Amino acid sequence: MDYALLISRYTTEHERQKLSMQRSLQFALRRAIQQGSLVAGSRLLSSRILAQELGIARNTVVYAYEQLVAEGFLETNRRGTIVTKIEAMPQAVAPDIASHRALAKRAQSILSLPVPPELSSGFAPGVPALKEFPIRLWRSLLDKTWRASTAQHLAYAEAAGEPSLRAAIVEHLRASRGVECDFDQVIITDGTQSSLDLCAHAFADAGDKVWMENPGYMGAQIAFKSAQLKIIGINIDEDGLAPKTKDWLQHPPKLIYVTPSHQYPSGSILSLERRIALIGAATQHQSLIIEDDYDSEFRHDGPPLPAMQGLVKDAPVIYLGTFSKTMFPALRIAYMVVPKNVIAALRTMVATLSLRGRRTEQLCLAQFIHQGHFVRHVRRMRKLYRQRRDALVAALSTLIAQQAIKAEIIGDQAGMHLALRFKDHSVDDIALSNALLKLGIIAPALSLHRIGSRLNTWRGLMLGYAQVPSEDIPGLVKKMSLILATAISSA
Ligand SMILES: Cc1ncc(COP(=O)(O)O)c(C=O)c1O
Repeated sequence: MDYALLISRYTTEHERQKLSMQRSLQFALRRAIQQGSLVAGSRLLSSRILAQELGIARNTVVYAYEQLVAEGFLETNRRGTIVTKIEAMPQAVAPDIASHRALAKRAQSILSLPVPPELSSGFAPGVPALKEFPIRLWRSLLDKTWRASTAQHLAYAEAAGEPSLRAAIVEHLRASRGVECDFDQVIITDGTQSSLDLCAHAFADAGDKVWMENPGYMGAQIAFKSAQLKIIGINIDEDGLAPKTKDWLQHPPKLIYVTPSHQYPSGSILSLERRIALIGAATQHQSLIIEDDYDSEFRHDGPPLPAMQGLVKDAPVIYLGTFSKTMFPALRIAYMVVPKNVIAALRTMVATLSLRGRRTEQLCLAQFIHQGHFVRHVRRMRKLYRQRRDALVAALSTLIAQQAIKAEIIGDQAGMHLALRFKDHSVDDIALSNALLKLGIIAPALSLHRIGSRLNTWRGLMLGYAQVPSEDIPGLVKKMSLILATAISSA
């Protein structure tokens, strides 16, 4: 940070002429903190060095710092002089109304969507047990991969991704998901979000209709809104997406987005009968199904249902998978399995829309799978998640019985989260979820995932258990009990 620049930026010429150097410095630092240019936790230069840099007496800096410490803007600790974290600090510069107005309608419609809380603690859904990831093993494999790299590996990657990773994915999908595909049907992406963006742009035009499960996954809603598609929410029931004949007649879709293995957010599983019916109707209406199989590796009770992609020969299905749940989200590696008739077009689109890279991570992941580490890790996590699921179901069942809460546990057979569904559909689950957030518990409301204004009867909470140690679960559920009992009995 250039402090001379900071002073000239945050004090006017007039102020600088009027004020002493100490006051100018004080003024500039205070304003920079208030306006967010100096963020909480950042360390200021020592008084000796800053005095040297500005060519002023050290005491001038010391007094300025002391004054700001007294006012609560700064604090001192072993690291030196630090900007204090003040909850009520006005955030950065005043909102720039003009630039907001300059935003496209498309961006405004995305910004109007509810923002889920930071996904890090409590029962935050979608977060795997990151503390259990074999990070040392991954680091050493990554190191080996880099050591084996040559100049050629620093060039742009093949548009569809590293061949060795695509081959490893084909093997994994065939063995564990019944997905039938050739190597060239697999395209590696930077995450499901990228896969969804690509599907939306490649297979639909602005204004085309896309069906989404209602309630449904916000990430998909964002991708489809960005592509200006018309989103039609189709209500789900306990067996997943439940379209009516009139939905097909009134709103025949170009695309249908589904999470059949573990519906997001309810956790319900699309029955085999419904899967076959959906494929049949989609074929008839020339619609393309996007099957998001995000957490299907974790099936806790009974054998997994095979993916829709492999259920019927040449089904109009694009299969999406991700390593965010089985490995870790920051890896940003996911994949699509596309029908044979669109391979060439899609690969060209990928190549023209973005130049690909991150070859080392892809090669490393291929080795991780090839050497059996992936299967071992998934198996270990499946066991762990089942224990955590059992602990959560037990604690919730006790709570429901003891407090006579009118709710049921659903969607616990698979994945990394379950849903606590309220029987009373008038419960304000968003207010309830906000109240829990104040206690540090993240449990997103089911109605937060409502699609558009179409009504549905899903009220309740999503509870992700993958990252919560079993021994912490009873305590967290107990912490929720008072708020839950009050909200539900008074509803
Ligand atoms: C339904 C669903 N699909 C996909 C993902 C993973 O997305 P990504 O691969 O972009 O991390 C998530 C993450 O929570 C999800 O909930």
